[in-house]
Amino acid sequence: MTRLAFYGALVALGILLPRAAADVDPIVIKGSKFFYQSNDTQFFIRGIAYQADLTNDDIATPSNTSYVDPLADADRCKRDIPYLRQLNTNVIRVYAVDPAQNHDSCMSQLADAGIYVLSDLADPIDSIDRDSPEWTVDLLSRYTSVIDALHGYNNILGFFAGNEVSHLANNTAASAYVKAAVRDSKAYIKSSNYRSIGVGYATNDDPEIRTNLADYFNCGANASESIDFWGYNVYSWCGDSSYVQSGYQNRTIQFSNYSVPSFFSEYGCNKVQPRTFSEVDAIYGPNMTQVWSGGIVYMYFEEANDYGLVDVSGDNVSTRPAFSYLSNRMQSATPTGVLKASYAPTNSPQACPTVNSNWQADASPLPPTPNTDRCQCKLSSLSCIPKRSLGTTQMGELFGTVCGLSSSACNGISHNATTGKYGAYSMCNSTVQLAVALDAYYRQQDSRSSACSFDGMAVLQKPSGTFSSPGSPVRDRRSTVRPRRFRPMYSVGSDELEMT
Ligand SMILES: *[C@@H]1O[C@H](CO)[C@@H](O)[C@H](O)[C@H]1NC(C)=O
Ligand SMILES: *[C@@H]1O[C@H](CO)[C@@H](O)[C@H](O)[C@H]1NC(C)=O
Ligand SMILES: *[C@@H]1O[C@H](CO)[C@@H](O)[C@H](O)[C@H]1NC(C)=O
Ligand SMILES: *[C@@H]1O[C@H](CO)[C@@H](O)[C@H](O)[C@H]1NC(C)=O
Ligand SMILES: *[C@@H]1O[C@H](CO)[C@@H](O)[C@H](O)[C@H]1NC(C)=O
Ligand SMILES: *[C@@H]1O[C@H](CO)[C@@H](O)[C@H](O)[C@H]1NC(C)=O
Ligand SMILES: *[C@@H]1O[C@H](CO)[C@@H](O)[C@H](O)[C@H]1NC(C)=O
Ligand SMILES: *[C@@H]1O[C@H](CO)[C@@H](O)[C@H](O)[C@H]1NC(C)=O
Ligand SMILES: *[C@@H]1O[C@H](CO)[C@@H](O)[C@H](O)[C@H]1NC(C)=O
Ligand SMILES: *[C@@H]1O[C@H](CO)[C@@H](O)[C@H](O)[C@H]1NC(C)=O
Repeated sequence: MTRLAFYGALVALGILLPRAAADVDPIVIKGSKFFYQSNDTQFFIRGIAYQADLTNDDIATPSNTSYVDPLADADRCKRDIPYLRQLNTNVIRVYAVDPAQNHDSCMSQLADAGIYVLSDLADPIDSIDRDSPEWTVDLLSRYTSVIDALHGYNNILGFFAGNEVSHLANNTAASAYVKAAVRDSKAYIKSSNYRSIGVGYATNDDPEIRTNLADYFNCGANASESIDFWGYNVYSWCGDSSYVQSGYQNRTIQFSNYSVPSFFSEYGCNKVQPRTFSEVDAIYGPNMTQVWSGGIVYMYFEEANDYGLVDVSGDNVSTRPAFSYLSNRMQSATPTGVLKASYAPTNSPQACPTVNSNWQADASPLPPTPNTDRCQCKLSSLSCIPKRSLGTTQMGELFGTVCGLSSSACNGISHNATTGKYGAYSMCNSTVQLAVALDAYYRQQDSRSSACSFDGMAVLQKPSGTFSSPGSPVRDRRSTVRPRRFRPMYSVGSDELEMT
C-alpha cells in the first residue's frame, strides 16, 4: 500500500478525521507576517475578544472553574457567531479555556464561519504572578493541557503564554518566567508532533518598559526560546485621535524591523463614548499593514468595565451603538498584503536588553524547564520533608522559618531572574520545594532529629522512594490569590497611563 493509500484508508476508517469538521486552511508564519497555508495570501487579523465574565448573571459555569470557558457551550457559540460575522470577524481571542470540557462544537461552528482562535494558555488562578513569578510543574501542566485540548483544530491560530504580566520596571523580572513558558510550550508542541502552532505573548503598552519588553521576548540566537508573534494591548487611540497623535505611528516605526508578526491583541479605548473606531481605518490602511497583522477589539460582552459591543441576556443579544460603528468600519477593512512566495523576510531578532534599573530580567539563562520526574525523584531521596496536610499558611510560615534560619538551605529552590541564578528545584511544586529546604537544613545541622521538627510540621522519612503523594493541594507558597488577567488593567490615553 502506498503511503497515500494508507492515509486514505485511515481517513476512511475515521481514524485520522480532524475533530473540527469544517475545512479551514491553517495559518502559518513566514518572517513577520501570517499567511494561509495553501495559497499565497497574507492573513490579517480582524479580531474580537470573546470571554464572558463569571459575574455575568446569565452565565452559569458548567464546571467548577473560576472562569467561563467561552468554547465549551455550543448554544452560546451559536447565539454569538452571527454577531461576530456581522463584524467581519475572522479571529476571536479567548483568555481561559477549561481543558476538561469538549470544544468540538464551538470550534467547528467557528470554522464554518471562517473564524480562527487565539487562546491564552493560563487561567485566572494558574498564571505567572508578576509580583511573585515562578514557572513550575503545575503551571507547565496547565499550559500543556490547554495545548492538548486545542491543537487538533485547524482554526487554532496561536497561543499566548502570558497576558500583561510585567507592567512596571520593578516587575520586569517576571518576564523571564513568561519567556521560559514560551520556550517550554513551543518545545511541547514540537515534541508532541503537533501541527506547528505559534506561541506568543500579549503585553500592555507601558511607555517605560515597552521597548525592552518587545526586544526581550524576541531576542537571542535560539528562536526556539523566543516568541512566534507579539501581541500589543493598546488603548492609546481615544475618540477622534489620529495615526500620529495616538502614538500608533511611533509604535509602527518601532516594529518595522521586528522579526516575527506583531498585531494589536486588544484595542478600543472607551474614554470617549460611543466608540466609533476611527482607528480601524489606520490599522487596516497602508501605513500600518506593512508592519502589523491587524488587531483584536476588546471586547464582545458588555460588563462592568464597559468595553462591550453587545448586551447579552440569556438567549437574547442586543447590539450597542459601538457595534454598528465597528461593523461599518470592518466592512471596509480590506488590507492589501504581500504574496507569500515573493516575500523574502530580512528582519532579524532584536538585541537583548541589558539588566539595569529599568530592566530586571536576564535573557540567559532562562528559568529551568519544569520536570515532574526530577522533582519526584528528588523528593524520594530526601530524609526531612514537610508533614502531610499542611495548609498554605503553615507552609508559607515554614518556608519563612527555614530560609530565615539558613538562607543557604534554600539555595536549591531560590530563583532570581535578575542574576540569572535558578535553584535546580525552583520549578517544583511547593511540597517538593519545602522538602528540599527542610532537608538541606537538617543536613546542615548534622542530621540531628531535632533539626527536622519545626513543631511537628516537618517529619523524617526513609529516603528510598517510599514517599508517595504528600501534602495538601497547595499550589503556591506565597499567595493563594493571583491577579485576574483578563481585564485590561489600564485605559490609556495618548501615551499616559491611568488606572481605570
Ligand atoms: C487563500 O485561501 C483563503 C482561505 O481559503 C481564501 O480566503 C483566499 O481567498 C485565498 N486566496 C486566493 C488568492 O485565492
Ligand atoms: C463542583 O464542586 C462542588 C463542591 O465541591 C461539587 O459538589 C460538584 O460536584 C462539583 N461539580 C463539578 C461539575 O465538578
Ligand atoms: C513599583 O513601582 C511602582 C511605581 O513606579 C510603585 O508604586 C510600587 O510600589 C513599586 N513596587 C515595589 C514592589 O517596589
Ligand atoms: C535551543 O533551545 C531549545 C529549547 O531550549 C534547546 O532544546 C536547543 O538545544 C537549543 N539549541 C541550541 C543550538 O542551543
Ligand atoms: C513619537 O516619537 C517622537 C520622537 O521620539 C516624539 O517626539 C513624539 O512625542 C512621539 N509621539 C507620541 C504621540 O508619543
Ligand atoms: C498615514 O500616515 C500619515 C502621516 O504619515 C497620516 O497623515 C495619515 O492620516 C495616515 N493614514 C491613516 C489612514 O491613518
Ligand atoms: C428575550 O427576548 C424575549 C423577546 O423580546 C423576551 O420575551 C425574553 O424575556 C428575553 N429573555 C431574556 C432572558 O431577557
Ligand atoms: C530596529 O530599529 C531600532 C530603532 O532604529 C534599532 O535600535 C534596532 O537595533 C533595530 N533592530 C534590528 C534587529 O535591526
Ligand atoms: C508535588 O510533587 C510531588 C512530586 O512530583 C508529588 O508527589 C506531589 O503529589 C505533588 N503535590 C501536590 C500538592 O501537587
Ligand atoms: C536578585 O538579586 C539581586 C542582586 O543580588 C537583588 O538585588 C534582588 O533583590 C534579587 N531579587 C529577588 C527577587 O530576590
